[in-house]
Amino acid sequence: MQNLICLHGQNRAGAFHSYAQSGESRDPGVACLFKAAIIFIVTSGVRANLKIRWAIQMLFLFNRLNSISVTALVMSVFAATGAIAQSNSDDAHLAIENPADLSKEEALRVYESLQRRMGRGYAAAQMDILLNYQNWPLFNDAPYISATHGQRFVNSYANRMAHNYGTLQPGEKLPMGSVLAKDSVTVTDEGNIHPGALFVMEKLADGANPDTADWRYIMVMPDGSLFGDTMGARARAVAYCHDCHEAVADRDYTFFVPEEYVVKN
Ligand code: HEC
Repeated sequence: MQNLICLHGQNRAGAFHSYAQSGESRDPGVACLFKAAIIFIVTSGVRANLKIRWAIQMLFLFNRLNSISVTALVMSVFAATGAIAQSNSDDAHLAIENPADLSKEEALRVYESLQRRMGRGYAAAQMDILLNYQNWPLFNDAPYISATHGQRFVNSYANRMAHNYGTLQPGEKLPMGSVLAKDSVTVTDEGNIHPGALFVMEKLADGANPDTADWRYIMVMPDGSLFGDTMGARARAVAYCHDCHEAVADRDYTFFVPEEYVVKN
């Protein structure tokens, strides 16, 4: 039996998550109950179309009982459908594992122990834009839990082209050819440690994809298989990435790193 855990308000990344969803604070109890119910629906062994119907009914019920905003409602549907798409994968994006509470030093040690293996795994995807991403500038001083990327410990790398990623002013844009790579590690409180997915954003040429403001989103699994690529295979599986990143359109769709983890590059 897996523990259902909710990160809302628990740390900076959790606060980011709520912000990304609705821009307002909600009763964490209700939010957790809500999340738990969605997780129950998406992980139960029923057919996908039935899951979607249940999830939508649930969302409407909760929406009437509580003042969860329409944005939150929409985001939850994305989360639910995203999880359905991945419900057979042990690396599901909607995390239901119980992440460990690690100090910065502990998180760094865990990451260092897996780093090379992760690099080799993602490299199997044979994507030139990701070549040696671990040598790129790193913008966080230790891996931090990202509630929006499956409650995994993540890092934020950006290639040299993305020179203004750390200093972006409202309205400013990243240049074409910028690549942002966020690798991830799962650490449960039972001490299970394994590599997670690599989340990627690439800035394309002007007008290349107006639907995503010329950002390409890719998710690479730890073994190098492609979960989805908005400009390639299984584009629909990763369409929800931009839906959330749209919350920070004024920062060219990038959220950046939680303040207490920021490194000046
Ligand atoms: C529910 C909201 C949400 C979704 C869905 C989401 N992200 Fe993010 N993303 C964030 C937030 C918040 C951050 C910054 C803080 C963090 O790392 O948690 C971020 C950071 C990133 C970054 C580092 C660049 C930046 O924004 O500063 C990349 C790369 C990224 N996400 C890729 C993806 C990809 C690829 C997907 C889909 C597979 C995805 N994201 C889905 C919210 C989201």
